Amino acid sequence: MQSRVVVGCQWGDEGKGKIVDLLADDADLIVRFQGGANAGHTVIIKGEKFILNLLPSGILREGKKCVIASGVVVDPRKLLDEISELKQHGISASGRLFVSGKSHIVFPYHKFMDQYLEKARGKGSLGTTKRGIGPAYTDRVARAGIRMYDILDENYFKDRLNEALKIKRIGIPDADAIEELSVEFNFQFINNIVDSIREYITDTSQLILGSLSNKESVLFEGAQGSLLDIDNGTYPFTTSSSTFLGGLFVGCGIAPFIPDESIGIVKAYTTRVGAGPFPTELSDVTGDKLRENGAEFGAATGRPRRCGWLDFPILHYTSELNGVNALAITKLDVLSGLDRIKVCTGYRYRNTILERFPDNSLILKDCQPIYEEYPGWKESLEKVKEYEELPENARYYLDAIEERLKVKIRYISIGADRSQTIRKY
Ligand code: GDP
Ligand code: IMO
Ligand code: MG
Repeated sequence: MQSRVVVGCQWGDEGKGKIVDLLADDADLIVRFQGGANAGHTVIIKGEKFILNLLPSGILREGKKCVIASGVVVDPRKLLDEISELKQHGISASGRLFVSGKSHIVFPYHKFMDQYLEKARGKGSLGTTKRGIGPAYTDRVARAGIRMYDILDENYFKDRLNEALKIKRIGIPDADAIEELSVEFNFQFINNIVDSIREYITDTSQLILGSLSNKESVLFEGAQGSLLDIDNGTYPFTTSSSTFLGGLFVGCGIAPFIPDESIGIVKAYTTRVGAGPFPTELSDVTGDKLRENGAEFGAATGRPRRCGWLDFPILHYTSELNGVNALAITKLDVLSGLDRIKVCTGYRYRNTILERFPDNSLILKDCQPIYEEYPGWKESLEKVKEYEELPENARYYLDAIEERLKVKIRYISIGADRSQTIRKY
């Protein structure tokens, strides 16, 4: 398979990291194309846990080339910390990690602004990861950002930093007393890392295009979920980047094409971190049980995730949005032990029934889910190796997903470890 993309079909944390790690075995190049350290992708290999915020999950596969493309906003300190953490496990990024010179840098002032704005929003806060993502993308669009290439020229960088902070400080009381808003602090932040990061900075568009034209296998690793997409998600309760398939081409700086495989990652139930509407959310013991069984605590921030049933209007919408032609269903094991499993097949909105996910996300908060029930199963799935070994009711549930979405399930994940995956075809 020459080009594959992995996209999250819900609100993130679907298990993309685990599936990317699996598929990276067959890939030559693994590419992150948007988002930043707001992502937390977990890979567990023989009991050893890795959480990747910026590095593509393919980095765990020896010798694989990995790209952080221009659509990613990069906190360079975080990136270097991740690199050195892997080094302690005997994994080197040197010579096989490539960071776009055009990628924008997340500075301490972006993280400060993220916290400052969240606090100012008060009750209307978005529940961001406070990793500076929104402010960094805002600066990119406002043409006030600083890119990786820019820090390689000290004088130019100083000028850009002065300009950026001059604007940033406007309207902030006591700005002079805030370290993160000082030129010196941010200059030193870069000064401390520039020599370590220099070796990774390059033209990644050319690299990706070169791989594709050499018929190498390229795996694109989506971050966040489609419902967090800045345009197509549940705005304003979204992130600040284009998380869906369309963001890939902008984020890599390459001409659009239809990937051979667009793999939609679907958690067997739904979760969400942060604020915003969530029709199938369970604020009861079943929700607590899903959180407990699924260890639903954020990989990036440790926050408890909100949990609820699977939602088909969402999945119809996001599989269409991403041209999904294969599914990976994750965390099926978490549903073991439930007597009944509900799925949402539509919404009741005022006096009408909606079968489709509403285009106007204002409507979503007043949508009541309409449920269908499926019988549960008691057996643990931990040791299952083949599809046929799954309990009958688990297969019935999976068949229902395939049938409703009209997309084939290719992978079924039944545990967090790399080995706990069933390949259906
Ligand atoms: P991502 O952001 O989409 O990569 O997902 P996260 O890593 O943030 O969250 C997924 C969580 O579920 C992680 O803790 C994974 O280790 C875990 N996980 C992934 N697949 C499975 C699975 O099939 N079963 C169970 N029980 N856990 C899984
Ligand atoms: P992965 O790649 C889940 C959510 C935040 C918040 C909103 C805005 O691990 O699936 P931001 O910091 O981006 O401005 O926060 O988006 N969010 C995620 N939720 N998984 C993620 O990434 C997320 N990245 C951002 O919780 O609600
Ligand atoms: Mg995550």
